[in-house]
Amino acid sequence: MEKSPFHHHYHHHHLHHAQRLLLRYPLPKFVLLSLLLVVALFFFFHFSPLSSPAPSGDRRSLRSAAWGGSLWEKRVRSSARVKAGRRGASVLVTGAAGFVGSHVAAALKRRGDGVLGLDNFNDYYEPSLKRARQALLERAGVFVVEGDINDGALLRKLFDVVPFTHVLHLAAQAGVRYAMRNPSSYVHSNVAGLVSVLEAAKSASPHPAVVWASSSSVYGLNTKVPFSESDRTDRPASLYAATKKAGEEIAHVYNHIYGLSITGLRFFTVYGPWGRPDMAYFFFTRDILRGKAISIFEGPNHATVARDFTYIDDIVSGCLGALDTAEKSTGTGGKKRGPAQLRVFNLGNTSPVPVSDLVAILEKLLKKKADRKVVKMPRNGDVQFTHANISLAQRELGYHPTTDLQTGLKRFVKWYLDYYSSGGKKSSYSL
Ligand SMILES: NC(=O)c1ccc[n+]([C@@H]2O[C@H](COP(=O)([O-])OP(=O)(O)OC[C@H]3O[C@@H](n4cnc5c(N)ncnc54)[C@H](O)[C@@H]3O)[C@@H](O)[C@H]2O)c1
Ligand SMILES: *[C@@H]1O[C@H](CO)[C@@H](O)[C@H](O)[C@H]1NC(C)=O
Repeated sequence: MEKSPFHHHYHHHHLHHAQRLLLRYPLPKFVLLSLLLVVALFFFFHFSPLSSPAPSGDRRSLRSAAWGGSLWEKRVRSSARVKAGRRGASVLVTGAAGFVGSHVAAALKRRGDGVLGLDNFNDYYEPSLKRARQALLERAGVFVVEGDINDGALLRKLFDVVPFTHVLHLAAQAGVRYAMRNPSSYVHSNVAGLVSVLEAAKSASPHPAVVWASSSSVYGLNTKVPFSESDRTDRPASLYAATKKAGEEIAHVYNHIYGLSITGLRFFTVYGPWGRPDMAYFFFTRDILRGKAISIFEGPNHATVARDFTYIDDIVSGCLGALDTAEKSTGTGGKKRGPAQLRVFNLGNTSPVPVSDLVAILEKLLKKKADRKVVKMPRNGDVQFTHANISLAQRELGYHPTTDLQTGLKRFVKWYLDYYSSGGKKSSYSL
């Protein structure tokens, strides 16, 4: 075999063994090169960031290939079945292993509605927490299908098997600061994923009504308080907020073209048992217990940072109110028959609390002083305060939040201590 410079430099160390074999069984050089190319392509597609966390479009990943089959369809159908003798809804809940999704799915099932969950169990935060929520849902009779909302074939299959009356779309890449580290995950789940869900909804016959989670972050740099639905939302302060704002515009399109009934809910800082470990109330609790310093943000000129914290049970009742008042979509199988409902609501608590007060409440509940470090709020997406005007949701959804921060945090801390005292394995605490 002749030795080209390429051969010499590149193969010398790495392919010593292969080279020897090839010398013994000489092959044309292009065969060797093609083999190398195949190996390189294999590694590229399996380990490149392009192929994770999930493939886009209709390409089914090896993991989601687990769905299908008559046994699987039976589980799907039985989970989505309305309790005998009821006139309830049959709801596809995306993000069902998530914080809000698991609570709403459980509440729907309790009152007799049919519920099917969908979640990709990504590792943005500890997947074991999502698995523990899933275990509780399974016990309650809710099947959570493991798959990505971008998997169009899976969504079509689900709509084939079940004529869902409603979609409660909560799956998303959440978190404001993480968007600077992994921007594409926001585009994948919050933009492409939303389109994928709406495509599936508009292709189904009949069209389901869609209720989905937007965010208070769409108010961005607004300073007028409280935030009302009619206020401008064109100055997002984070990529997360921008993808939620994009979602609201995309909702308008699907409502306009296909007559899909769509309701967007702007949640304000939701907290409670089974909550999200990436949120301040959650990791403050963890860090206070561990004696680790916590950073409390302050605005320019020592201005306090405040949040309109909303307890999970109140959010659940808001979601149920939105589902119950959602009118039917007017179209079917991709055809519009007339104008359909398009709504957006704030779901907040109307009482912003300074983050320093949040810490004081946690200290009292945990019976432990926090090691506070006051730091300037970095300009990476967080806004200084949020405050919801909820009069529209009050009027239209019968939404009346009843839990103050003190009461809600007490329940959260109780859950936290119970859950983590067993190493995060116990799921005796219900949803
Ligand atoms: N918790 C809050 O304070 C808050 C505030 C405003 C808006 N929201 C919105 O409410 C919704 C629910 O939030 P949460 O706090 O329960 O978050 P969460 O992260 O606990 O739940 C979202 C779930 O969606 C799943 N998911 C993400 N991308 C997916 C994909 N591509 N395919 C399938 N599943 C996917 C995740 O695995 C997760 O279980 C989200 O849309 C979020 O943006 C939440
Ligand atoms: C709250 O919103 C309603 C519209 O839903 C509006 O009429 C009212 O003026 C707002 N209140 C405040 C204090 O901004």
